[in-house]
Amino acid sequence: MRIEENSKYALTGNNGAGKTTLLRLLVGLLRPKSGTIKIFDKALTRKKKDLWQIRQNIGFLFQNPDDQLFAPTIEEDVSFGARNLKLEPEEVKRRVKWALEAVDLVDFKDFSPFNLSWGQKKRACLAGLLVMKPKLLILDEPFANLDFKSIINHLAIIERLRKEENMTILFTSHNLFFVEHWADEMLVLNEGRGIFEGHPREGLNLPNIREIMGSYDEIRDLIQNHNSNQKQLIF
Ligand SMILES: Nc1ncnc2c1ncn2[C@@H]1O[C@H](COP(=O)(O)OP(=O)(O)OP(=O)(O)O)[C@@H](O)[C@H]1O
Ligand SMILES: [Mg+2]
Repeated sequence: MRIEENSKYALTGNNGAGKTTLLRLLVGLLRPKSGTIKIFDKALTRKKKDLWQIRQNIGFLFQNPDDQLFAPTIEEDVSFGARNLKLEPEEVKRRVKWALEAVDLVDFKDFSPFNLSWGQKKRACLAGLLVMKPKLLILDEPFANLDFKSIINHLAIIERLRKEENMTILFTSHNLFFVEHWADEMLVLNEGRGIFEGHPREGLNLPNIREIMGSYDEIRDLIQNHNSNQKQLIF
């Protein structure tokens, strides 16, 4: 898996294919049984100092925001990463204000994370990563469970900040629309193995990948087939 700086890289595959597991390996939350991981041209070791250095440059948006938010208020949660970087208190304040504005959660800064909707929680998590100004933003299913308007909103925020801050994006999605239209490169995982790395459109047109991943066409055919069978039953 090779990710170019400033690119958008998609990790795709069905439920249980191993996308989240691979991301956890990349940030040192899990250790590989074999093989090596190099990130920012540095081998990922078990040394605490190395891990800390690497993590300072990575923002990891968890698939489930409830696994990420922990502080009593949104503002405290968002400031956590910046405080950990041992920045001056004024700089922490400035970044938190900037991040809350960027994700449009200023009015919710005193709320408990538990009183936010799913989409708001996802935005709060994103703000918590942005305060660290990471070089690499890892997003695990950033658009899952969001309505179309929220997706547009999230995508606009991420794209604006990606350009302003020159960030590289690594995201997982089983939504092939995002993989095809948003990513520059993709890796398809199937049952824990990489089966294709390359340009999304090229990969998604391969018959074996279409077969493994399925499509809206297949769903539509199934529904139409089912509907016509039902009509026969009624007559
Ligand atoms: N710590 C672990 N130890 C052993 N097996 C695990 C561990 N974490 C996940 N798994 C298993 O690894 C497989 C891949 O899980 P993973 O969460 O990476 O899938 P995913 O591609 O992210 O799926 P989804 O699209 O549903 O999020 C699953 O079968 C899961 O049960
Ligand atoms: Mg996952």
